[in-house]
Amino acid sequence: MQNQLKAIMEEAREQLSAAKAVAEVEEMRVRLLGKKGRITEILRGMGKLSPEERKIMGQAANSARAEIERLLDEKFAAFKDMQRALKFKEEKIDVTEPGVVTPLGTKHLISITIDEISRVFMSMGFSISEGPEIETVFHNFDALNAPKNHPSRDMSDTFYITEDVLLRTQTSPVQVRTLMKQDPPIKVISPGRCFRCDTPDATHSPMFHQVEGLVVDEGISMADLKGTLDAFAKQLFGSNAKTKFRPHHFPFTEPSAEMDVSCFKCGGKGCKVCKGSGWIEILGCGMVHPNVLSVGHVDTEKYTGFAFGMGVERIAMLKYEVDDIRLLYENDVRFIQQFK
Ligand code: DAH
Repeated sequence: MQNQLKAIMEEAREQLSAAKAVAEVEEMRVRLLGKKGRITEILRGMGKLSPEERKIMGQAANSARAEIERLLDEKFAAFKDMQRALKFKEEKIDVTEPGVVTPLGTKHLISITIDEISRVFMSMGFSISEGPEIETVFHNFDALNAPKNHPSRDMSDTFYITEDVLLRTQTSPVQVRTLMKQDPPIKVISPGRCFRCDTPDATHSPMFHQVEGLVVDEGISMADLKGTLDAFAKQLFGSNAKTKFRPHHFPFTEPSAEMDVSCFKCGGKGCKVCKGSGWIEILGCGMVHPNVLSVGHVDTEKYTGFAFGMGVERIAMLKYEVDDIRLLYENDVRFIQQFK
């Protein structure tokens, strides 16, 4: 029996050192220590021996079993280490390899233009005040002094959601919201989306952007309006830009005006961009109507203000010579990538 154990041990050592896979070692474990394994069988056969022999053989078989278990564990651990080392090798990253270049997106021309306009006004101390795109008829028309029969209120011009709720047709309702929640002095601009029932063509889009402005304080006059907007034009279009104010009408301002800027393309001589006139219309403006100030409970004896509003698409198209507004919304990357 001792010889038998010796032979099993030798064989086990040999086979283990030759084993090349975990499965082989597992198989050996079953073959030697399993229910019908050779060592197990030897241990089971102890009953037939005399007590003295049983003592000696029992010890020998038990230590053989312990030795085999130790050898098997060692082999299993060796395989585990090998596998881990292999995995590390496979997963190793060579940080000196050139990386994969991810193309960087570009800002949309509308965002670029809103940012440019905002930067100019922010440098003059304006802050940004935003309002909702889904508005009430009250904020979009009534509070802005729009007559009940004003054509812009028509279903054919305005997207109504209900009788009292609509998609704002202008950013002017943010003036109302600002006046209602803030006391003067007020100095804000409000960039944002607007909507009108327009059929798309080269100059119209049912969705477009405006930047609104509102200044309310003691002693604000038309001179402040002209000075502020002239400084804005010079910063946006270059220090040579001149401005001109033409009388106009808006329900929410009195007096009202439109501001033209001298053509930045031809300098005023007349070209395709200014349609030969030397001037380009840029924005609407005026002194805030007392009826509008009153909605915000502003003391109209003490405070006055001016407001202005401009179309972002129009400015972007003029500045970057884009001849069709639809190009701004088609999102053709070949177009979009040109503006950085
Ligand atoms: N809301 C006007 C429009 O959509 C633009 C405008 C004109 C805004 C004069 C103003 C303003 O604040 O004073 O045509």
